Amino acid sequence: MTQETLTVLGLETSCDETAAAVVRLSGGRAEVIAERVASQTSDHALYGGVVPEIAARAHVERIDGLIRLVMEEADESWDRLSGVAATAGPGLIGGVMVGLSTAKAIALARGLPLIAVNHLEGHALSPRLAEDIPFPYLLLLVSGGHCQFVFVEGIGRYQRLGSTIDDAAGEAFDKTAKLLGLPGAGGPAVERAAEQGDPKAVDLPRPLLDRPGLDMSFSGLKTAVRRAAEDQPLTDKRRADICASFQTAVADILAARSARAMELVTHMSDNRTFVVAGGVAANKALRTRLEAEARHAGFRFAAPPLKWCTDNAAMIALAGAERLRLGASDPLDTPARARWPLDEASASVAPIYGAGKKGAKA
Ligand code: KG4
Ligand code: ZN
Repeated sequence: MTQETLTVLGLETSCDETAAAVVRLSGGRAEVIAERVASQTSDHALYGGVVPEIAARAHVERIDGLIRLVMEEADESWDRLSGVAATAGPGLIGGVMVGLSTAKAIALARGLPLIAVNHLEGHALSPRLAEDIPFPYLLLLVSGGHCQFVFVEGIGRYQRLGSTIDDAAGEAFDKTAKLLGLPGAGGPAVERAAEQGDPKAVDLPRPLLDRPGLDMSFSGLKTAVRRAAEDQPLTDKRRADICASFQTAVADILAARSARAMELVTHMSDNRTFVVAGGVAANKALRTRLEAEARHAGFRFAAPPLKWCTDNAAMIALAGAERLRLGASDPLDTPARARWPLDEASASVAPIYGAGKKGAKA
């Protein structure tokens, strides 16, 4: 393991954000030197969801310009970089290929190590961009494509404890926004509307909560939202009430499962830290609710600042730098992957560099 300062360029193109960032890792502390995120929300607005082909083309058009910008802003030269990291999956394959191929071209041209990062590992480590969070910790990863509890033992050591059996929580936010005809990005639109609504107005289910384990389900909630939307005329008041009731139901499900997950990890480690990350972690009502749950369980609570909850390249650069620090890099023929469970991303560094089980530090 090396202790020197590492400066890594990171690229993120797995969904509908094109992003580039330069992150410096020094003595275990991360510093974001420059970052840019170009959202494609308006490119997809007409279609009511992300269109993979449009996303991939938009990544192609924007990625070079973003890289030039962050390199200028960071005042970095190519020969001072330690490596180049890119999301290699999971995600929309066309988009992932754009970012990963760009990173491979830079690595080849500049003689730099390539680090192929699992997007979920980026989210898992994202809270460490802002504060020092020692391993191990319990992570609730809630995004548009994933909803899972993970025991994060160290860099490259991720144990999935439970997950959704159907939709991800972010997907449920997006579908709710679409059903109600709310404009713009789904999650933030529902959150905004919910502020004006009554969370008790609509009776919505909390599926699976009577079952043991940590599995979650959100598809029944989506069906109930559809019924509520068809039940009565969709006035602004009715929309706000459905959003408030929906958001509270999601928070109830995640809070109840988080309480159980915290109870479970007290048997795995003395280190009591509960971290929430991913796009849905940007939801303020949910953060407040989970923070209260953590306090009640005697856990430290952490969540990244909002800009690092949703997709960004700073978290990919950090994951790349952490892997590089541990001596891991990837060959130039590393494939882009549409599917890549987080536990499988462990293999490349786990046997050599994982942290110990109890109370291990970064
Ligand atoms: O992490 P992310 O940017 O992309 C994925 O890896 O999926 O997460 C995007 C998801 C979307 O479903 C979006 O609606 C949701 O995060 N999201 C929110 C909020 N901001 C983004 N959900 C609820 N409240 C928010 N404020
Ligand atoms: Zn994401």
